Amino acid sequence: AFKPLVFSGVQPTGNLHLGNYLGAIRKFVALQADNDCIYCVVDLHSITAQLVHEDLKGQIRSIAAAFIASGIDPEKHIVFNQSAVPQHAELAWIFNCVARIGWMNRMTQFKDKAGKDRENASLGLLAYPSLMAADILVYRGTHVPVGDDQKQHLELARDIAMKFNLDFRDNIRATGTGVDILVGDEPVHAYFPMVEPMIEGPAPRVMSLRDGTKKMSKSDPSDLSRINLMDDAETISKKIRKAKTDPEALPSEAEGLKGRPEAENLVGIYAALSDRSKADVLSEFGGQQFSTFKPALVDLAVTVLSPITAEMRRLMDDTAHIDAILRNGGERARARAEKTMAEVSDIIGF
Ligand code: ADP
Ligand code: NA
Repeated sequence: AFKPLVFSGVQPTGNLHLGNYLGAIRKFVALQADNDCIYCVVDLHSITAQLVHEDLKGQIRSIAAAFIASGIDPEKHIVFNQSAVPQHAELAWIFNCVARIGWMNRMTQFKDKAGKDRENASLGLLAYPSLMAADILVYRGTHVPVGDDQKQHLELARDIAMKFNLDFRDNIRATGTGVDILVGDEPVHAYFPMVEPMIEGPAPRVMSLRDGTKKMSKSDPSDLSRINLMDDAETISKKIRKAKTDPEALPSEAEGLKGRPEAENLVGIYAALSDRSKADVLSEFGGQQFSTFKPALVDLAVTVLSPITAEMRRLMDDTAHIDAILRNGGERARARAEKTMAEVSDIIGF
């Protein structure tokens, strides 16, 4: 079997929000106790949808600061910036030649982000999942904590790994670089592992505060749609008070949230922030109005987020410190990625 390795990445674009925190960063923190973890600021991904960014460096530092302020230990684990390790792009090129265009065309995130004018989207936006597969597999990563929105991309990473393993099966044997694994019931001699998504948890997808059917996202033009990690208590309070709801009281059981996406989202956020199930939260708040529930949610969100916000501000004021952490992480990541690429070159026959 492959040695377990946790890998995940966050793009340095726009403000980090509560969805990123509950869907990703908080899981990154929890996984450190029992795993070898690599957490990456994926700057190469950030130029796929929009090429030119104001203050990209500042954005990169702010993601690193958010990781560390949330409790990631950059000495025991690895925190770095993707472009510092050129092997990500190198392996992505090889994966571009493994993956099929039809696989990419089916990605719902591509369809969403490309919009109507698909012919005019960047080639990088289409190939994004291939780079994401390379990010993980250049470390032969086995586990990926992400939000539910990334599930389809991880399935594609498995398809790429599987096709590489099968297409090069003889060379993998000949170079002695492979590992025997089971894929379903099928024994495979694999160079790349089949990555496992880690999507579970009470809030796999946090929805917009303005529309319970859309995910909370950095790219939503309405700032009222999301709670940013850098928001102060007053702003958090305003956004939750203005969050869209329906006129009914909260149900006393989770079943009663069906067909009420806004209510379900707010209860889900409360549950995730307090490490409880939705059912448990409803056993406390069932029958109450949003006018009672929202202030409780404000208090909870401020209690959880304000120490993180304060620490992020402190770290971001010390850019030399953040840059040193990223440089050190980049060197350690590069050493591992170089080893993989030397083996991949042997397998391909370069
Ligand atoms: P965004 O979609 O806001 O641009 P990213 O694509 O950079 O954010 O996602 C970074 C991480 O945060 C990923 O693991 C992703 O699954 C997670 N994530 C993003 N938005 C949400 C959300 N609304 N709910 C849960 N997780 C999310
Ligand atoms: Na995303």
